[in-house]
Parts: sequence; C-alpha cells; structure tokens
Amino acid sequence: MAAKIRYATDLDKTVLVGNFDKRGWIQVGGDDDWNFYWSTVGTTRNIFNVDSGYRMQDDQVLNHFPNHYELTRKDLMVKNIKRYRKDLEKEGSPLAEKDEQGKYMHLDFIPVTFLLPADYNLFVEEFRKNPSSTWIMKPTGKARGIGIFLINKLSQIKKWSRDSKTSSFQAPSAKDAYVISKYIDNPLLIGGKKFDLRIYVLVTSYRPLKCYLYRQGFCRFCTVKYNANVNELDNMFIHLTNVSIQKHGDEYNSHHGGKWTVQNLRLHLEGTRGKEVTDKLFDEMNWQVVHSLRAVSTVMANDRHCFECYGYDTIIDDNLKPWLIEVNASPSLTSTTANDRIMKYNLVNDTINIVMPNGETPDVRWNKIPPKECYGHYDLLYDEELAQLDLSEREVRGRPGASTLFGARGRDSKSRTTTWK
Ligand SMILES: Nc1ncnc2c1ncn2[C@@H]1O[C@H](COP(=O)(O)OP(=O)(O)O)[C@@H](O)[C@H]1O
Ligand SMILES: [Mg+2]
Repeated sequence: MAAKIRYATDLDKTVLVGNFDKRGWIQVGGDDDWNFYWSTVGTTRNIFNVDSGYRMQDDQVLNHFPNHYELTRKDLMVKNIKRYRKDLEKEGSPLAEKDEQGKYMHLDFIPVTFLLPADYNLFVEEFRKNPSSTWIMKPTGKARGIGIFLINKLSQIKKWSRDSKTSSFQAPSAKDAYVISKYIDNPLLIGGKKFDLRIYVLVTSYRPLKCYLYRQGFCRFCTVKYNANVNELDNMFIHLTNVSIQKHGDEYNSHHGGKWTVQNLRLHLEGTRGKEVTDKLFDEMNWQVVHSLRAVSTVMANDRHCFECYGYDTIIDDNLKPWLIEVNASPSLTSTTANDRIMKYNLVNDTINIVMPNGETPDVRWNKIPPKECYGHYDLLYDEELAQLDLSEREVRGRPGASTLFGARGRDSKSRTTTWK
C-alpha cells in the first residue's frame, strides 16, 4: 500500500482540513517531514529564505511560488504588465496595437497606477490631466479593504510629496507606501449596486505556462447603492466590495452574503445586454488572466514544487469593459454562507486533484499532466505547450495570424481557452 500523505497547514479552515481528512492524510507540523503544505505567504517566505537552509525534497508540494509577489503585489503586477506590453510592442506583436490616443487596444486592462511616495511627481502629472478624477489609495502590505481610501484633490496627499515644503519628508519604509490607482467611477451596477468578481485561477507551472480557471467564481455586491457624489467618497459600503467590509453594513444579508455566482451574472447580462457582448466580456476576462500570468512568467521562480491558487479581483465598467484590480495569493477560505462553504470545499478538492493526481505521493521529478477527469470545476485555461503546438500547426498551413498566439481580441476555433458556460 502507498504511504500516507503527510500534510501541514497554517490555516485552521474546515474547507482545508475536511479535504485532507477525507483523503486519510496525516497532519504533521511545518517543521516535520511533510509532502503537502498549504501555507501562508509568510511561511513560504521562511521556507525559501536562504538563511533557513531548507531544501525541498522531490516528494514535497507547496501552495505558493517563492516570489508570487511579482503578481500579487499590485505595484509589481503593474510594473510587470507594463514591461510585458513594451516587450510585445518591440516584437511588433499585433497585441500591442494602439489607438489614436496612444492607448493599447487589447492590453489596457489595469487602472493607471502609481506607487507613493516613489512616483509622486508622475502621479501629479497624470492627475493634472484630469483634475476631476477620483483615485483610490491602498496601503501596500494590507488586504481585505483595510486602510483604503478615495481622494479627489491633490491636497489630500500632499504629505506623500517628496518636495513638500510643509511636511518634513522622510523616506517611508515599504510598509508605509501606498499604491494609488485611477478609480473606476463608472462600474456596472446591478440593482443600483457596485460589485466585483472573484475568480480563482490555478497555476501549476509558469514555464511553460499552465493555468486553470475555476468555473464557480462569484460576484461580491456592495450593500449600499452606488453614488459617485464626492460627499460619499468616504462611504466604504458604497465603494469597496470586500466581504470583510460589507459584512459590517446594516443591510448585509447573511443568507446570500451579497454574492452571486458567475453563472447568474452571465444569465443576467445575456438577458439585459445580449449574448454576443456577454461572450466578448467573458472572453476578454479570460485573456486578461492569461496576459497577467504571461507578464510575470519570465520573472517568476518556476519552482517545480510549487503551485498557486490565485484569487483575481475584477471590476466590470458600464461599457462592459473588465478591469483587473488585483491578484491575491491567499484568497479567503472563510465561508460566509452555506453555498460558499460548498464552493470553497470543492475549490480545495479540485485543486488538490490537479496538483496531486490520484492522491499519490508527489513526485515533482515527473511533473505529470493530470488526466482530464481530475479537473473537477476547473477548465484548462491556457497551456503554453499546446498553444505552441497549435501555432506551429498554423504556421505549417501558413494561415494568417500565425505570428501571434492570440489573434487580437478574438479566438479562433483552435484556440485553447475556455469560456464560462
Ligand atoms: N481602481 C479601482 N476602481 C474601482 N474600485 C476599486 C479600485 N481598486 C479597488 N477597488 C475596490 O476596492 C476593493 C479593494 O481593493 P483591492 O485593491 O482589491 O484591495 P484589498 O487587497 O484590500 O482587497 C476592490 O475589491 C474594489 O471593490
Ligand atoms: Mg481585493
């Protein structure tokens, strides 16, 4: 009989432990001999810290990449996506095409973003182009809506100015830095309320890129009707969709938890806006995920012991354009409703089935591709090896578009993405 899997975890969540128990795995401590570790990003940092001297064995699998922050820290994600776009432009890729205003036609999917205080002057330059715009400030290193606020006047951020005469500026440590992004002030509203999408994406390898998209993402609604009035800029129940914020609102409904499934959203949009634009929207979101991952694939330490289940935050505006807001390394596994618990339990279950096919002791030397039966509620979103195969087939046949993996916005029938059905 095969040896039992030894797992470690830093998170005491029933959706995790329930899955490990179901498989008959044995819990051990993080310092013991483990095969599978569902860790916090802090533990991952310690494991890969050169001083720890820890060396992973071939039968060990961990749920974060060593430098996941290249994607999950907003300022770094933005930097990597900007570099990716420039690289594509240099290659002459049609993906990097720009419109008359100089905006990327296919790769303009993150709000304009700066790091404060480092980019203060650049920010001011941008602000002055459109002085009536609203911006959202997020402290780096914080999550779940904590410490976020909206501003619409330069005077509100004077203290982050390097050359401010009034404040004695001192270079703050990284933990005092802020990311400031253009506020998407025209969100798509449903029932008058703002919402965002939480989409789960599993990456099992960056080079070649292999990623899966979870079909059961959801929308998170605000509890108070949207109102772009400047007097309401400090009302977080209007502007921030985080459940951790909204659950403190008077109108919070603990039965549905202010959530809708992605399938509900799809049906709603097909009914109100039509199937064609809805398909295009979901297609665009899929490509945004792939582009964001490709943007970091060259800088990511592609450790074969690692996988990662990311939580993507996306806002759809009233023109049905999706905007990528951030990518989380440790999406919440707290369940706020009964449906939530089932969905998150399945998410962990399906994730384990892909990264440890057949529940065998991992053997990262072989890095097996799981059989399709293991995908559960995941769909293969992008497999770079398959895409290249696809590309070479097209080149052989000399079809147009062979120079790019993705024919601008569209996909042809051979493309390897899937859409939410
Ligand atoms: N640029 C933006 N435009 C509109 N809403 C935003 C923007 N950035 C963030 N938000 C709102 O604020 C919430 C929290 O922001 P986010 O960047 O995801 O930080 P956190 O890590 O605290 O969740 C988002 O889920 C979204 O509702
Ligand atoms: Mg978030």
